[in-house]
Amino acid sequence: MQKSRIQNNLNIALISTVIVILGFIPPIPLGFIPVPLVLQNLGVMLAGILLGAKKGTIAIILVFLVGIIIPTFSGSLTLAAITSPSSGYAIAWLFVPFFTSLGLQKFPIQNSYSQFFIVWLAGVLFVDLTGALWLAYATQISIYSAILSSMIFIPGDTLKAFIALIIAKRLLKIKPMSNV
Ligand code: BTN
Repeated sequence: MQKSRIQNNLNIALISTVIVILGFIPPIPLGFIPVPLVLQNLGVMLAGILLGAKKGTIAIILVFLVGIIIPTFSGSLTLAAITSPSSGYAIAWLFVPFFTSLGLQKFPIQNSYSQFFIVWLAGVLFVDLTGALWLAYATQISIYSAILSSMIFIPGDTLKAFIALIIAKRLLKIKPMSNV
């Protein structure tokens, strides 16, 4: 019992560390939208698949807490990340583990395409849509323009969802993480 609690905490710490490390990879600014291309959301999707709703959310919250003192958000501190035009994306990350886990549990299909679709819905569509809505509000552009510009992220994010699922499946084969 105690051992599995320690293991759970280690898993959470490990995924948080992965997300923080991915946050140190310099973001790629895009001139036409004040939101950069980042790799960090790959780690967020991994948290959802590997850790499930509760532990995955804790892992993301940890990244926000560490970000109070260390710039864990692609060179920015948490305060900047949650007050910038891109904060809708970062805040949406907090809900990715919940939606991913909900989808994977409600549809416990072993079919990789269906699993990919659930990860994509939660980790890509939901995040990019929420981020776009916040972007429209924060920058006073139309929702249509915000969604249209945010679509630039869809191909890269789709690739990240695919990579996250492959990594997670490999890791789970080696070591089940009991993602509840
Ligand atoms: C931040 O560090 O302030 C958050 C950056 C959010 C970037 C979003 S995440 C989804 C989409 N895909 C990307 O590569 N960039 C945006």
